Amino acid sequence: MKKVFIRTFGCQMNEYDSERILTLLKDQYVSCPELNEADLIIVNTCSVREKAEQKVYSLVGRLKHLKRRRPEVIIAVVGCVAQQEGERILKRLPHVDLVLGPQAVYRFPEHLAKVLAGERPIVDVTMVKNFRQPLIFPELDGTRPVKAFVTIMQGCDNFCSYCVVPYTRGREISRPPEEILAEVEHLVRCGVREVTLLGQNVNSYGRKEKGFPTFAELLREVASIPGLWRVRFTTSHPKDLTEELMRCLAEEPKVCKHLHLPVQSGSDRILKRMNRRYTRAEYLNKVAKLRTLCPEIALTTDVIVGFPGETEEDFKATLSLLEEVRYAEIFSFKYSDRPLARSRLFKEKIPEEIKAQRLAKVHELQARITREINESFIGKEVEVLVEGRSPGNPLLWTGRTTTNHVVNFEGPEGLKGLLVCVLIEDTGQHSLRGRFKEIVNP
Ligand code: 5AD
Ligand code: SF4
Repeated sequence: MKKVFIRTFGCQMNEYDSERILTLLKDQYVSCPELNEADLIIVNTCSVREKAEQKVYSLVGRLKHLKRRRPEVIIAVVGCVAQQEGERILKRLPHVDLVLGPQAVYRFPEHLAKVLAGERPIVDVTMVKNFRQPLIFPELDGTRPVKAFVTIMQGCDNFCSYCVVPYTRGREISRPPEEILAEVEHLVRCGVREVTLLGQNVNSYGRKEKGFPTFAELLREVASIPGLWRVRFTTSHPKDLTEELMRCLAEEPKVCKHLHLPVQSGSDRILKRMNRRYTRAEYLNKVAKLRTLCPEIALTTDVIVGFPGETEEDFKATLSLLEEVRYAEIFSFKYSDRPLARSRLFKEKIPEEIKAQRLAKVHELQARITREINESFIGKEVEVLVEGRSPGNPLLWTGRTTTNHVVNFEGPEGLKGLLVCVLIEDTGQHSLRGRFKEIVNP
C-alpha cells in the first residue's frame, strides 16, 4: 500500500471532507503521520481569514524541495483556497499536481488516476448550483472514535460582507434527512456516542427544500437514534435562531446544553455594515429567552475586531456585550480583507496596531470571564463523555461536559467511550480538572 499524508486547516467542515477523501482512497493508500514518507500529500485549505491562507502557502511552499528530491510524490491542494485561487495556485506553487475545490474533493480518486497516468496538473474548481455531496460512510474500524461530525448542509446564502465562504463553498443546500439519519446510524454502529451536526448556518436547514423537516425536527429525529448519547450542532446564525430550536435545546436530554452563536460585533452600526441582519437588542433578547427556557445552557461566540470603520465607541459596544452575555468561551479575530467579500472595498480600514490592541483587550476581558465561569464549577459534579487519554498528559483522561467544557481527570483504566461523573477540583485556562466518581452510562 502507498502512503498518504493529509494536513487539514480550518473548520470542522474541512475535517469532515478530509475524512471522506481518506475513505475514498482506502484501497490504495494508508494514512501516514510523517510527511517525508508519504507518496501523496494532501493539504486541505481554509481561506476564511488571511492568516489561514498564509499558513497554506507557507506549508505548500516548503514542499518544493521535497518534490525536487522525489518528483514522484503527488501534491494536492484542496478546499477553500483551492476554490478561491484555482489556476493561480500553480503560478505561485508550480510543484502542485492537483487543485480541487470543496465540491470536487469527492472526485479525488478519478483526478488522482489521471495524475498517476502522467496527466498533470489537474485543476477542478467547478461549482454547480445544487451540488450535493455523495453519501460516503467513513471507515472507522480500528480507530473507534467516541465522537464524529456529520454535515447536514453545505454552502451559505448569507453573504456577510466580510466573508468568503459563500464564494468558496457555494449556495446553501441541505442534505436529505434520510441520508443524515443513515450516516448517524452507521456511526453509532461503529461505536460513536456523540455526533456534531455541521453547517454554515444550521438554523436554516431545509428551508429551501420542499418537504424537509425544520432543523429542530431533524435534531429530535437524530436524538431518537438508539445508542446515540449526545448531539451537538454548529454553527447557528442569530437571525435564524427560532423559539422551536430553543425549546428543543431545553427539552431534549440528548441535545447538549451548548450553543455557539456568533455575534461578531456589539455595535448596531457595524452589524449593519457586516450585513448580519440583527441588532444588538435582538441578539440579547434571544439570549435572554434561551436562558429562561434553558438556564444551564453555555454560550460561545465569534467576534471580529477592527472591521472597516469600527470606532472606539463601536469597539466598546463589543466589550460591553461580552460583559453582558458572559460567554463560556469566545473565538476572536482581527478583521482581514478577503477576496470577493464586499467589505474589502469599504473605506476606513483600521490600522494593524489598533486591531492588535483591540484583540488584546478582548482576550483580557474574556480570560477573566472564562476563569470566573470555570471557577464556579469547583466542588460540583459533572457528567463527562470520555474521549480518551489527554494529549497533554497521558496519565489523565479527557472528555467534555454537555456544556462543552473540557475536563481532564484521573481515573481507572477502560473509561474511553463511557459517560462518567467527575468531581471538579481545579481549573486551568481552557479546561477543568477533576476526580473520577462513577460510571453513569444511560
Ligand atoms: N476577517 C476576520 N474574521 C473573519 N471571520 C470570517 N471572515 C473574517 C474576516 N474576513 C471570522 C468570523 C466567523 C469565523 C469563522 O471567522 O468571526 O464567524
Ligand atoms: Fe460567512 Fe456569514 Fe455565511 Fe457565516 S453566515 S459562513 S459568516 S457569510
